[in-house]
Amino acid sequence: MKFLITAGPTREPIDPVRYISNRSSGKMGYAIAQAALDAGHEVILISGPVALPAPERAQMIRVTTADEMYDAVHANLAGIDIAVLCAAVADFKPAAFAPRKIKKREGVPVIELVPTRDILASLGALETKNFLLAGFAAETDDLEKNAREKLEKKQCDVVIANDVSAPGLGFESNENELTFFLPDQSSRVLPRATKRDLAAGLVKMLCALK
Ligand code: C5P
Repeated sequence: MKFLITAGPTREPIDPVRYISNRSSGKMGYAIAQAALDAGHEVILISGPVALPAPERAQMIRVTTADEMYDAVHANLAGIDIAVLCAAVADFKPAAFAPRKIKKREGVPVIELVPTRDILASLGALETKNFLLAGFAAETDDLEKNAREKLEKKQCDVVIANDVSAPGLGFESNENELTFFLPDQSSRVLPRATKRDLAAGLVKMLCALK
């Protein structure tokens, strides 16, 4: 099968030296890419800026902003069987980019933000798609309710949720626990394990759903 995976954060520039971003390390997405490769699948990995080595044999596409990630995803959909959108795409970006460094002496700037485009929702809204669409939900509360809302609103085939409020799980950590929410109201849990082991289970689960 051919996987398209997004991973890592995006960076939304304010001026040439400053940006808005988030704490995503990219570990989960990279682990999924590696697990898919290890299981003999093809992988296109579209990644925001992270401090991780590229998985060998993955077709890497490196991007910085949410807009670049959106364009890279849409340009690489041909022949995809499973799309896993794991990236922590910034929800907002500065309305304008200041081409020169904003000077401190000019006072505290007011930075207007505008929403970025939702890549996952844009794939869910495609009229024809031949791939299984998996989204992620990193939640601190109401895991099931929020994940199910995402599943419906973004028209995914599965939403994979993790509780980022639990100590030692989720963002920046090596361990995670995943719950798969499916449109038929059922759910399946992959219990706490290293992101590497979970990724292997996740790849199997997604192939079974495809
Ligand atoms: O709504 P929320 O950001 O929590 O949804 C998370 C899911 O949506 C993840 O799969 C993430 O990769 C995807 N997403 C996206 N583009 C955005 C925002 C989120 O693909 N602009």
